[in-house]
Amino acid sequence: MVHFVNVTMAYGSHIVIDKLNLHVEEGQLVVLIGPSGCGKTTTLQLINRLIKPTEGDILVNRQNIKNVDPVELRRKVGYVIQEIGLFPHMTIKQNIEIVPRLLGWDEERKAARTEELIQLVNLDRKYLKRYPSELSGGQQQRIGLLRALAVEPPIILMDEPFGALDPITRESLQNEIVALQKRLKKTIVFVTHDMDEAIKIADRIVLMKDGKIVQAAASKELLSNPANEFVEQFIGRHRLYSGKADTVADVMSDEIVCAEKTLSLIEAVALMRHKKVPGLFVIDDTKKLQGKVSIEQIRKSELSEQDALETIGIEQICPAFENQSAREVFDRMEAEKIDALPVVDEANTVIGVVTRSSIVRSLAEVVWGNQS
Ligand SMILES: Nc1ncnc2c1ncn2[C@@H]1O[C@H](COP(=O)(O)OP(=O)(O)OP(=O)(O)O)[C@@H](O)[C@H]1O
Ligand SMILES: [Mg+2]
Repeated sequence: MVHFVNVTMAYGSHIVIDKLNLHVEEGQLVVLIGPSGCGKTTTLQLINRLIKPTEGDILVNRQNIKNVDPVELRRKVGYVIQEIGLFPHMTIKQNIEIVPRLLGWDEERKAARTEELIQLVNLDRKYLKRYPSELSGGQQQRIGLLRALAVEPPIILMDEPFGALDPITRESLQNEIVALQKRLKKTIVFVTHDMDEAIKIADRIVLMKDGKIVQAAASKELLSNPANEFVEQFIGRHRLYSGKADTVADVMSDEIVCAEKTLSLIEAVALMRHKKVPGLFVIDDTKKLQGKVSIEQIRKSELSEQDALETIGIEQICPAFENQSAREVFDRMEAEKIDALPVVDEANTVIGVVTRSSIVRSLAEVVWGNQS
């Protein structure tokens, strides 16, 4: 839906966005996160053509936005800006109805939509007649959000939209955004500096630093496989700060190497070679965990290459459960010198893997550092 192709943005000699390649798929909610000044707001402004890149191309809906009329573009792209940006001389109602008016909606339709919207954020309709300066910061922020949603544009850009809200309103708006995106298949690019918020709402988290993407992944993947120390620190500080007791689901990766029990031994060996792993977790055809086999076991067996894995005597294992505490699992893995464990849900279906190193890397030192 939105594609950045080698986009660079420089102010004079200051490179703010550095050869950025970013893909936002249709219907995805992508969160941009990173330290202040890393280029999050700039990225949104580029999508909306509020600024033009120094180099590279940006495609929205497969069209290069260079060739799209900016006004036309902005009708398809709702934008909630960081500083709220309500027009002070317009009432709240007029502010919400800016785009509907541009699109020539009649009074009745505009009014009906505005009523619907104001209810969405639990504000009394008496506010519609007021001016922005007569609202609190949090109330203004909610109006800024409604303004972007008014005509339900397919793409919505949101720059720290919930910064000034109390936790309860914030939570209800986060839920609203997720529901809206699922229901109406909106594509949303959302900027925040709050990792909890990112984890809660994002399909994909894009962590930026100095105008570059450091890592772009689903939150589980980001937590379990941080690309480097910067990512680790960024998550670690946050996790430490939020004081969460993490579960296995928080630290697992979905890149598990499994084999169905009917797979032939020769195929199993090929898979281990290809994935560079010394063993495989064995599942049945409904992904229920059966156990594990090691390359050693296969080597020592007298079976022929075409025999199925299940004939070899699959070793039973006790998996990790997704809701189990990560600490508990980590302790067991340490004690029993287990490098990797499959993670299963309540139905014993394999949903991921935890590795000792990934738990240590992403969490152990930071969160549990002083306990032992
Ligand atoms: N008009 C401008 N002229 C010169 N430099 C600019 C301009 N706008 C932004 N910058 C610089 O570009 C860099 C990225 O700014 P941007 O606003 O995208 O950061 P951000 O990631 O949104 O930060 P924050 O979390 O503080 O909102 C900063 O170093 C900023 O000073
Ligand atoms: Mg910003």
